[in-house]
Amino acid sequence: MLPVERLKQAADNTLSNKVIFTEGFAYGPDEGYFPLRKNIANWLSRYYAPAQPISAERICITGGASQNLACVLQVFTDPAQTEIIWLVEPTYHLVFWIFEDAGFSGRMRGIPEDEEGMDVAALERALDAFERSGDSASQDDQKKRHKPHRPYRKIYKHVIYCVPCFSNPSGTTMSHSRREALIRVARKYNALVVADDVYDFLSWGVTHPAKPVSCPQLRLVDIDRVIDGGPEDRFGNVVSNGSFSKLIGPGCRVGWAEGTEDFIHGLSQAGSTRSGGAPSQLTSTFINELLEDNFLPEYIANIIVPEGRRRHCLLASAIKTHLGHFGVSFTPDPETNPVAGGYYIWIQLPAVLTATQVCQEALELQNLVLGCGETFAVPGGNAPGGDLHRRLRLCFMWEDEGRLVEGVGRLGLVIQSILTKVR
Ligand SMILES: Cc1ncc(COP(=O)(O)O)c(C=O)c1O
Repeated sequence: MLPVERLKQAADNTLSNKVIFTEGFAYGPDEGYFPLRKNIANWLSRYYAPAQPISAERICITGGASQNLACVLQVFTDPAQTEIIWLVEPTYHLVFWIFEDAGFSGRMRGIPEDEEGMDVAALERALDAFERSGDSASQDDQKKRHKPHRPYRKIYKHVIYCVPCFSNPSGTTMSHSRREALIRVARKYNALVVADDVYDFLSWGVTHPAKPVSCPQLRLVDIDRVIDGGPEDRFGNVVSNGSFSKLIGPGCRVGWAEGTEDFIHGLSQAGSTRSGGAPSQLTSTFINELLEDNFLPEYIANIIVPEGRRRHCLLASAIKTHLGHFGVSFTPDPETNPVAGGYYIWIQLPAVLTATQVCQEALELQNLVLGCGETFAVPGGNAPGGDLHRRLRLCFMWEDEGRLVEGVGRLGLVIQSILTKVR
């Protein structure tokens, strides 16, 4: 699915044009390569159709969602003032280290999710309990800071992390009403919502299988622009973390962030960006070509989405065939969800099995690597009542079709062998 030929051509065109390559090889502007910012803004405006079009000034170029999360925390949090990082649980596990590197070790808390995404009422209760507990920094402590005052930023008191569409690992999509509630809670508690919007474009439906459906929901960042009269201050309460990693390839290391113009300017003033300019400047000039002539949106629609849907359906049907009779269930099911997408299927094992045991035996007996549910638990701050010990994450986008089916067949043999021993 990698668009090798088109990217080769884009690199060749770019490196043959002196005006473009001179800019590409240089330290770029802090906000990133302007033509790419502009083209991303136009593309997002078409795809999400927000109430107001998205301007280039709302976008800055990043080195991908992970690198950008680190920059967001560098600029907009201070471990002396920012209290807690609230994460939907299960959550994308590789963000834990990023939060720890930013000074938040031991200060992450999991909030459970259901079929509508993060349980925002539970989040609000937890925030309220925290604020009342006396653990919250006193007025005096609030005056302490590790980071200097800067006119281009504010320090948020809390951070809320989520993957609103086709979440990693559970594939869940947050409903519109939850999104609105989340923004209101974020405003009430001076929290920044970091929305990893990296799977939004990988969206398919059952009714028009060959066609991509538009994103099932408005993004949090779009809602923050309009709800209750718009943002409460010039920075707003949401940053959207976008990435080309799941659309072109993660090795590109190019993504974008969207927020209010002031937030985006502040983000572009992270120390490492001011020193070197926006990351991935040369690659930005290549990727810009793929948007300039609308190649990428068409490629997503005609190649990635139909193939993703095919693989999703194939994996789902293999699970039903090979694992259903053991009592294994899963979400999202492409047969019953009007809109599904992303990369993952989230499996629930029958109560007699644990994910750890299945993963261990799968590796030993079948050389099969699975995503163990507990990997996605927030360290030191689990949401109550979770069932991660019975969960597995399977990815349908990485392996070829034949290997997906074979893998599930082998997982069936592993489960069979454990059940024979247990019974
Ligand atoms: C939710 C989520 N955010 C971020 C990333 C990493 O994105 P990037 O390659 O843009 O750093 C991933 C990759 O799996 C992901 O699932």
